[in-house]
Amino acid sequence: MHQHHLRSVSLLSIMVAFVLLLVFYRATQEAWRTIPQITDMEKAAEAELHHSNERVGEDIKFYNPESSFKPGTPEPPGYNYTRALIVPCLVEDDIDWIDRELPDIQAFIYVADNASAPLHPPKNKGHEGMTYLTYIIDHYNSLPDINVFMHAHRWAWHNADLLNNDAAQMVRRLSSARVIREGYMNMRCQWDPGCPDHIYPLQRTDDWTKKEQQEIGRRWAELFPLDPIPAVLGAPCCAQFALSRERIRAVPLRRYVFYRDWLLRTPLTDYFSGRVFEYVWQYIFTGNAVACPAQNACYCDGFGVCFGGEAEYATWFELRNTLDTHQHALREWHRKERDVERAKQDGRLDEAALLEIPELGMDDWLLQQIEALRRELQTRKAAAIERGKDPEARKLDLGGEGVKMKDCGDCETHD
Ligand SMILES: *[C@@H]1O[C@H](CO)[C@@H](O)[C@H](O)[C@H]1NC(C)=O
Ligand SMILES: *[C@@H]1O[C@H](CO)[C@@H](O)[C@H](O)[C@H]1NC(C)=O
Repeated sequence: MHQHHLRSVSLLSIMVAFVLLLVFYRATQEAWRTIPQITDMEKAAEAELHHSNERVGEDIKFYNPESSFKPGTPEPPGYNYTRALIVPCLVEDDIDWIDRELPDIQAFIYVADNASAPLHPPKNKGHEGMTYLTYIIDHYNSLPDINVFMHAHRWAWHNADLLNNDAAQMVRRLSSARVIREGYMNMRCQWDPGCPDHIYPLQRTDDWTKKEQQEIGRRWAELFPLDPIPAVLGAPCCAQFALSRERIRAVPLRRYVFYRDWLLRTPLTDYFSGRVFEYVWQYIFTGNAVACPAQNACYCDGFGVCFGGEAEYATWFELRNTLDTHQHALREWHRKERDVERAKQDGRLDEAALLEIPELGMDDWLLQQIEALRRELQTRKAAAIERGKDPEARKLDLGGEGVKMKDCGDCETHD
């Protein structure tokens, strides 16, 4: 009797605990919906969904819509485009450079880990993806002409090498005309890493350099239910890009809501869910699994850095590789010299005799080469920036990409 009583008590407490857990789970699942800044657009998206449900066959288009984007026609040179800069950051990030360096662009800075910040994503998950989608959802009906999506760090290895890896210069020099024409422009022109091919979602074996590869294959159908898994995905790395209003709006609002819902709900970690989006942005906006424009055309048309052709562009990077090699060799030369000196000072003469003695005079030769290469690179870069100011000269770099000559009449000149 006593035992039976105990058992029913524990059964009851298990049930109570279960109900509490369920309530708690529902509360956490729903919490983000109550954040006021997104509910209006959520409602609009739902209304749009119900509206289209009334029409037979429309629903399928939601999952696999034909992009309605047509290449845009830029305004005449000198036109003042409205531009927004969208930046996800953390409380600890230094973002003062944005106000200081880019006073002319409207900045939307989302603090991912501060729910009291005026702008913040519904959840700190999915890296920049959550913020980018939140901006698009919240501003779908009030977008400026140009929307630039960038990381919070001003200097990064994956920023443009030809603009000193400086995000501020990239945004300042970005050609609105190219963004209007193309609709989607990756802010990285250099192919490495990411192009011409990068992720093979169908590959079964693990690749530790691309841990997200298999995950993208596994999750593809959740994001793009009716689209076959592409054999390969490719785009210059690191999820910084510019979009025209028209390109954003060529995709229905509820599809962005759907993508963000996926991010909010996926059991994948922050790292993996962020990585999945990093390699599908070009697919979301262009419908192409591979988006790798010619590097010289991207730099010239996109940022006004024009080398006059693919070969001339490639030469600059070859020279810089040689510079890197020489700098490495010089460091090695000094290391060997130090090793020999130390061994001698310590009286380890037998050991010193075995060490490689750096070639006499090689350090001076390397220094001269390094200095000459630095000057050469600087001169060539300055000439490329000068060439970028001339609309006629810019045509040379655009040929390889198949951009029509007449388009170049729209090309902006940069300061
Ligand atoms: C664009 O803005 C600049 C600076 O405010 C102004 O001087 C110029 O007249 C404007 N151009 C046009 C076409 O409105
Ligand atoms: C979060 O944002 C609020 C509102 O801007 C601010 O007062 C607060 O200091 C921020 N918290 C942190 C930790 O930065």
